[in-house]
Amino acid sequence: PHIKERTTPQWGLYQRENFWRQNEGTTPLFNTGKYYASSNAGMSNTHLANRQAFYRHRLIPNQLIDTNNRSTRTKIFDHSVSAPIGFAPVGINKIYHSAGEAAVSKVASELNLPYCLSTAGSTSIEKVASANGPKGTRFFQLYMPHDDELTVSLLTRAWENGFDALILTTDTWQLGWRHDDVALSNYAFYRGFGADMGLSDPVFLSRCGADGIDPDVDVVAASTKWIDSIWHGRAWSWEKIPWLMETWRGISGGRPFVIKGIQSVGDARRCVELGVEGIVVSNHAGRQVDGAVASLDALERIAEAVGERIYVMFDSGVRGASDVVKALALGARFVFIGRLWIWGLSIQGEDGVRHVMKSLLADMDILMGVAGFNGVEDFNRDILGRSCFCC
Ligand code: FNR
Repeated sequence: PHIKERTTPQWGLYQRENFWRQNEGTTPLFNTGKYYASSNAGMSNTHLANRQAFYRHRLIPNQLIDTNNRSTRTKIFDHSVSAPIGFAPVGINKIYHSAGEAAVSKVASELNLPYCLSTAGSTSIEKVASANGPKGTRFFQLYMPHDDELTVSLLTRAWENGFDALILTTDTWQLGWRHDDVALSNYAFYRGFGADMGLSDPVFLSRCGADGIDPDVDVVAASTKWIDSIWHGRAWSWEKIPWLMETWRGISGGRPFVIKGIQSVGDARRCVELGVEGIVVSNHAGRQVDGAVASLDALERIAEAVGERIYVMFDSGVRGASDVVKALALGARFVFIGRLWIWGLSIQGEDGVRHVMKSLLADMDILMGVAGFNGVEDFNRDILGRSCFCC
């Protein structure tokens, strides 16, 4: 029953940001891509805080527990999956490796872990659904355009292609102040990479036509229009959420609606009041608000306040199995991973993603065995040692 991955020295390296900085990569824009993936908001304060928060909590192992039949298995909404670990939505995967989102979503279903496709993906909804296959658990992450018809079109395509939940990301209606990115000629590198999602959408194409843009002739203009329509620089407000929920429920027959980017107890309560099925406590890996609270600290408070009333998920800063266990012990039901598999994809394409995620699963299995945990139900605050607040 246990997931085995032969430990390689590389696994340790994959967990370190510096490793891939030395790598030359396989795509023409790889060097640009690696800056994009490692860039954080401002002075990286929140990125560092995300990691430090994990160091402040320690696990307390128990001895002589029969863990021979342990299992990492759990459920996310109605779906049984191998572990409480999913693939966070990450845009423009083809910048890292030509295999792109199709390879990542294929590995996710192979490992029976949920995959979340980004609106900024460089592979269309239809192609990802086909790579993820009939057995895959997949979610669609929405950056909501200020064009309702376009939103409806994306949701309809997601539903028709078997996406099991909608995840609205609320923290990125415009990109944060990220020095590395701004230096990279104002995101010009998205053009041609981030556009497949838009260029495969009938409503978006009709908007291009109306503006006199022929995507076959001027893909840069069309791609720029697409990027502008999802990172439009105009804030949404809570008043729009009931419309989106009803629209998604109407189209999908009531599949779960999730909000990602929640960091305050007040916002989490608001989600409960609105009847949202789930939240992802996240600060977008520290890429949006520099100086924002560590995601793990936000999780602790939010789970305490609303954990019984809404499905609480978590991301930002997870690099190994002990981080997953700590987040679950603090009240998350599920954890998403971003940068870890991006690094794997960048360095070794599909095999890299597979190796990173299998290593994480093996790490989790072994950790549970030696620490005396039999299943996710064993993770609660009692397994955490006293946190120190000095580091
Ligand atoms: C992201 N993230 C993100 N989130 C989202 O909702 N849509 C997106 O398109 C992206 N794109 C994206 C690109 C890159 C390069 C990164 C690093 C992150 C955020 C992502 O879903 C998740 O919140 C974080 O990546 C989790 O933190 P870790 O695991 O990367 O530390």
